[in-house]
Amino acid sequence: MILTITLNPAIDVRYKIGNFDINGVFRGKPAKTAGGKGLNVSRVLRTLGEEVEASGFLGGNSGDWISDEIANIGIKDSFIKTDVETRSCIAILGNGTQTEILEMGEKISENFVEEFLEFFRNRFDRFETICISGSVPEGVQEDIYKVLCEIAGKKKVILDTSGRLLLKGIEGNPYLVKPNKEELEGLLERELITFREVIEGAKELKNKGCKNVLVSLGKDGAIFIDESEKVYKVSIPKIDVKNSVGSGDSTIAGFAYAINRNKTPEEALKLAMACGMSNAMIDETGKIDLNVVEEFLPKIEVEKL
Ligand SMILES: Nc1ncnc2c1ncn2[C@@H]1O[C@H](COP(=O)(O)OP(=O)(O)OP(=O)(O)O)[C@@H](O)[C@H]1O
Ligand SMILES: [Mg+2]
Repeated sequence: MILTITLNPAIDVRYKIGNFDINGVFRGKPAKTAGGKGLNVSRVLRTLGEEVEASGFLGGNSGDWISDEIANIGIKDSFIKTDVETRSCIAILGNGTQTEILEMGEKISENFVEEFLEFFRNRFDRFETICISGSVPEGVQEDIYKVLCEIAGKKKVILDTSGRLLLKGIEGNPYLVKPNKEELEGLLERELITFREVIEGAKELKNKGCKNVLVSLGKDGAIFIDESEKVYKVSIPKIDVKNSVGSGDSTIAGFAYAINRNKTPEEALKLAMACGMSNAMIDETGKIDLNVVEEFLPKIEVEKL
């Protein structure tokens, strides 16, 4: 069983409105999913056949809706129930356009943050692998991920976030971080053009305190640096992309599933990429097709540099 942490979940609401334009009035039918990066990871883990316990903060009617959704797919709900409404994030898919409105999330009061930390302290030891993903709502301290990594100690904590949350989190020595290229460039405050530069950047990040670093590169696959500084270059076949949002989350799910079963880095990287690619070929976020994943596995190349 894997524990996932989503401190800032959301109901993702998608409208498909072909002729969408600013200033217009449109009618549309919303498609809703239980969102937030950690919940995407959780869904993909379930599809892979893994048992999942999910925690973070949920509140109000939206929180209840998300609780129902995750219960329906057999995820154990360990979310702390707060007194504020869980946010919604809206995406409007037009003809080749995507307009997004991301609510910030209401402030979480200190007592709920304490309750969550208490849950984590009491519960982390039951899991070998813990996935922590995404942003945090107002009211949660900037070093929360560092605190969680420190509590989790030797457990395999996979941390997928960005900016200051990631920089601080790394100080807690997570097992793996998975920035995409833009996130890595943001952290290092410089552009990374060639594979060589990405490898150097990933090594720099590792030296800041993460045991393993996986840099996902969209259609260009990934670069992985393991604990002993071995470098792996992962190449993937070309695919027809529908919507690559959530491909990073699917990648994390694949990797977490594999390492939780003590697979080799090569096997973990292949499953990680195949899950990301399958997600990119489906409209919905955080969804994979196991047949497609199986089909991709032998087509992914892992090269030790
Ligand atoms: N356009 C694409 N073509 C082929 N594979 C893709 C594409 N986009 C994503 N993938 C697959 O998914 C993996 C992760 O994608 P990406 O690097 O875009 O993550 P990300 O930016 O963190 O995504 P998100 O944060 O939205 O979940 C890639 O390493 C690759 O295996
Ligand atoms: Mg990402």
